[in-house]
Amino acid sequence: METMVLSAQAPETAQIAADLIKKGQLVALPTETVYGLGANGLDEEAVSKIFVAKGRPQDNPLILHVADESQMENLCHSIPESAYRLARAFWPGPLTIVLPARDIVPKKTTGGLSTVAIRCPDCEITRKIIALSGVPVAAPSANLSGKPSTTTAQHVLDDHKGKIPCIVDGGPCKVGVESTIVDLTEERPRLLRPGGITPEDLLEVLGDLVVDKAVTAQLSQNDVAKAPGMKYRHYAPRCPVVIVSGSRQAASRYIHNHFTPGDRVLCFREELPLYEDCNPLSYGQEADPSSLSAGLFAALRELDKEEIGKVYARCPEGGGIAYAVQNRLKKAAAFQVVNGEESL
Ligand code: TXA
Ligand code: MG
Repeated sequence: METMVLSAQAPETAQIAADLIKKGQLVALPTETVYGLGANGLDEEAVSKIFVAKGRPQDNPLILHVADESQMENLCHSIPESAYRLARAFWPGPLTIVLPARDIVPKKTTGGLSTVAIRCPDCEITRKIIALSGVPVAAPSANLSGKPSTTTAQHVLDDHKGKIPCIVDGGPCKVGVESTIVDLTEERPRLLRPGGITPEDLLEVLGDLVVDKAVTAQLSQNDVAKAPGMKYRHYAPRCPVVIVSGSRQAASRYIHNHFTPGDRVLCFREELPLYEDCNPLSYGQEADPSSLSAGLFAALRELDKEEIGKVYARCPEGGGIAYAVQNRLKKAAAFQVVNGEESL
């Protein structure tokens, strides 16, 4: 199959992409977070194609993307007032809300759950495509399952060339990590995945937030994952990743003590001069955490192109968007963190 790459700027793109979705085909779509692999979320057969293309486990549910808040009521029931408040504050934007699903949503889309995840992306071309298609668009991150997410059309092409009919190229994704997921189906709102809408942002609107265990620690075999996707090894390049925390000097000392040829260092741009002898790759500036979120997956995918022994990674501290970067990097590192201050 030939994979068309359509520019988001071309006037005919939205209609072509919407027609493909209406016909039950897959279209890779840009969003402000990462590229998604979209299909008609109400069509089981179309949704099945997503699982096949990604090699995704069947129990891992998909997010339904909507063009505006009004679509939420067709797909969900028992919507609490807090969902409207969140939608008004953060949509279109990098926030996904989990709510009880109506019967119209196929079990294939929800991975068999009685709840469904909904999001309205902050990307004009994609909202236009959703509106023209007339259906909610199910879209996981477009990466092959287990690989780092796709933040450019080229990344999508690298994973799916010849296997999907169409990619809409909207340029590099601004946020760079997947949306924040909040579950509103329990008594207290629960953060299932941190992203561009920060815990601080959520608290301001909700007044309360429980952080799910999967956000901060590796789930054990016996844990039930609230967001099924969080239990899988994720976001990771093929080689082992170790996060080295601590001051610049302490981390550099630790890394230089342990580095062997064939290893790589993933660091902040400010630190490149420290690692000239360690084959460093920077993913953004420590002083600008949003550059780190925007650059993280491209860097992890870059590292995946080579045979590498081990990656020593530097991770930003603190809240805001840095919190989401920590979560993705820690997952890539299977939560392996060494403190450069305490180790030699
Ligand atoms: O930013 C994003 O959210 C991107 C773009 C394309 O919109 N999409 C994305 O989809 O990251 P995906 O499939 O890679 O991640 C969706 C996550 C998975 O961890 C999945 O388990 C969780 O959302 N999820 C989906 N439906 C859920 C539900 N009903 N309850 C709990 N978690 C759910
Ligand atoms: Mg994903």
